[in-house]
Amino acid sequence: MPSVIPVKLPQSSYEIAIAPGSLSELGSYLAKLNLGTKVLLVSNPEIFKLYKDVAVNSLQKAGFEVATHPIPEGEVNKTLASIEEIYNIALKNRLKRSSTMVALGGGVVGDMTGFAAATWFRGINFVQVPTSLLAMVDASIGGKTGVNHPQGKNLIGAFYQPRLVLIDPQVLKTLPVREFRAGMAEVIKYGVIWEPNLSSQPDLFRKLELAERLDDLAHLSEELLQTILTCSCEAKADVVSKDEKETDLRAILNYGHTIGHAIESLTKYSVVNHGEAVAIGMVAAGKIATKLQMWTEAEEKRQNKLIEKAKLLENAEFPIKIPELKSEIPPLNSEEVINQIIERDKKDFFILPTKIGEVKKVKIDENGVSEKIIREVLTELKISR
Ligand SMILES: NC(=O)c1ccc[n+]([C@@H]2O[C@H](COP(=O)([O-])OP(=O)(O)OC[C@H]3O[C@@H](n4cnc5c(N)ncnc54)[C@H](O)[C@@H]3O)[C@@H](O)[C@H]2O)c1
Ligand SMILES: [Zn+2]
Repeated sequence: MPSVIPVKLPQSSYEIAIAPGSLSELGSYLAKLNLGTKVLLVSNPEIFKLYKDVAVNSLQKAGFEVATHPIPEGEVNKTLASIEEIYNIALKNRLKRSSTMVALGGGVVGDMTGFAAATWFRGINFVQVPTSLLAMVDASIGGKTGVNHPQGKNLIGAFYQPRLVLIDPQVLKTLPVREFRAGMAEVIKYGVIWEPNLSSQPDLFRKLELAERLDDLAHLSEELLQTILTCSCEAKADVVSKDEKETDLRAILNYGHTIGHAIESLTKYSVVNHGEAVAIGMVAAGKIATKLQMWTEAEEKRQNKLIEKAKLLENAEFPIKIPELKSEIPPLNSEEVINQIIERDKKDFFILPTKIGEVKKVKIDENGVSEKIIREVLTELKISR
């Protein structure tokens, strides 16, 4: 039951292939793309331990000459220094313009390998083989690549599209459960913001509602996982193909992210992970939308039920504590937090749901989302555990 989703862009269209067991077919997928013979496979040491052999064997079997490079694990290594190391390996292995860089890993590996591919010889072939749920449904699609600057996340980067995104759902079996749930937050987000054009199909949101559990891959059928991946990739592909460079529509992907980003940065990225922060952001945005009578309380409850089903609020406690600093960040309704959120909104817009499957952009002002409502919602926001 493999699925193929086309990503149609003016300059460079490509496909997302979702097929169980496809990692061992990586070589034959690449062979169909008419690439040069050299491939640089980039990952991190942990993922290489699990999947390097199968990927390299498959590439070699298809006739590719393969070099490999592990980037040290983690967001802290998403730096220009790590990119320089990739360039050094590219040089050492004499990668040419026709050569290919393949990213095998989560969003960190994908963003960095993509940026290296975008800039080496002003752009060589790039293939994404995402291994985390978040990378499969979000980071690997849409062409955003880059690294962090000491002053901020993802400040350096380029839009650069891959030639192929190859998703093997079976690799999720080794993904830590908390990382799985973080990806599920983005899946739930798609359910709230997007509806497929084919109204004959039940939408993603409904399918998530019907699932018995969403918190652990071990309790998800292979069929449901395939459906979740397919619908989520279709959602992201649809949005980015209508707005490749984020001038307008792509902003809807930031649903739950305005408050989510504020929580992440206030807690110094150490208490809740990205998906958990986005989940809290969606709970808050859902409540704001209810207060503004943009959608109904019943719809808000349906959204929150999915978030609870994915156990995304397990690590949240208010006021959020930062253990290593032995200090407490202010409760969510404090001036400091609210000011941060309002500051962010000046650049970002608030994305609020109008119904399940549809959102719109709203600005903070007296007619729309007022500061008063944000304050009220953050004060009332209770995360029960
Ligand atoms: N380019 C985009 O559009 C976009 C979108 C969203 C996020 N991002 C970026 O993606 C990054 C987050 O991605 P992420 O959540 O995948 O984090 P990540 O890449 O750090 O991966 C999370 C952890 O899971 C491990 N892992 C991944 N796949 C595994 C597997 N199959 N088995 C065992 N362990 C596995 C990784 O080694 C890592 O420890 C951030 O840097 C973010 O900025 C980019
Ligand atoms: Zn996100």
